Amino acid sequence: MQIIKTVTELRSVLKSQASIAFVPTMGNLHEGHIHLVTLAKQHAECVVVSIFVNPLQFGANEDLASYPRTLEADCEKLKAAGASIVFAPAVAEIYPQCTVTESNGTESDGIKLNQTMTIAPPPIANELCGASRPGHFSGVATVVLKLFNMVFFNGSKQHFAIFGQKDFQQLFMIKELVKQFNLPITIIAGETVREASGLAMSSRNGYLTTEQHQQASQLNSALQDIVNVIKKGDCDFNLLEQEITATLKSQGWLVDYISIRSTRTLSPATSSDRHLVVLGAAKLGNTRLIDNVEFLR
Ligand code: PAF
Repeated sequence: MQIIKTVTELRSVLKSQASIAFVPTMGNLHEGHIHLVTLAKQHAECVVVSIFVNPLQFGANEDLASYPRTLEADCEKLKAAGASIVFAPAVAEIYPQCTVTESNGTESDGIKLNQTMTIAPPPIANELCGASRPGHFSGVATVVLKLFNMVFFNGSKQHFAIFGQKDFQQLFMIKELVKQFNLPITIIAGETVREASGLAMSSRNGYLTTEQHQQASQLNSALQDIVNVIKKGDCDFNLLEQEITATLKSQGWLVDYISIRSTRTLSPATSSDRHLVVLGAAKLGNTRLIDNVEFLR
């Protein structure tokens, strides 16, 4: 497995590859990521994994500075999982025009764009996670498009990119990016990997105290409860969202949203929609967790 830090070297190494499967990550890898690498290996012999904590998708006062950077341990895991190349660029390699302010606990933490060109996503990017994280999906779409350009389109003919379903809205945005920008890339969705309790694996689980960790599966249980009730015929979606929000609040969660949506459009579900997803985001202490359950009614 090769570890590469620059775009020039990456392009030169990938020049002769006929097909590439790419797994973009921000590092601090867990079993969920390794599952994506396993999926990637089913699609191409050359598996590229990027590890880049993307400053552009973090808002002021979010955890950019404290986000765990564990490159050495990540590379060990990726080697064992059979990845071919780890691309771990510095911020200046991806955003030469930007200046990044390291955290000093003020609102100016983050990135100064200067003359950087970014993607303006459609309005659905301002709902759900985007409502409380303004600019987040612009940051995600921008870095993903840049990474796609760096990894693919250099002689290879078949392009696969693998994203986890846990970040449902992100996956939706990336599929739109690929469709609307006519990118010759097949997007593969990797199932959410869960702990025995049902808690979705996430790099942010590491922020939870032991007690919070034990409690954290309540989010998934709450979403499952909604699914069960809807499957029995209830379609008062607003009321269900409110009831589950109240239950989580009573358990000590700070709920960002609980929302029942159409999987096709990601807009609020109507009683005629059959392909549904219930999504939730909520904080335990300072740790914001997200999860979703997709189902057919
Ligand atoms: O899901 C993530 O880890 C990130 O949002 C991604 C897709 C690697 C872009 O920075």
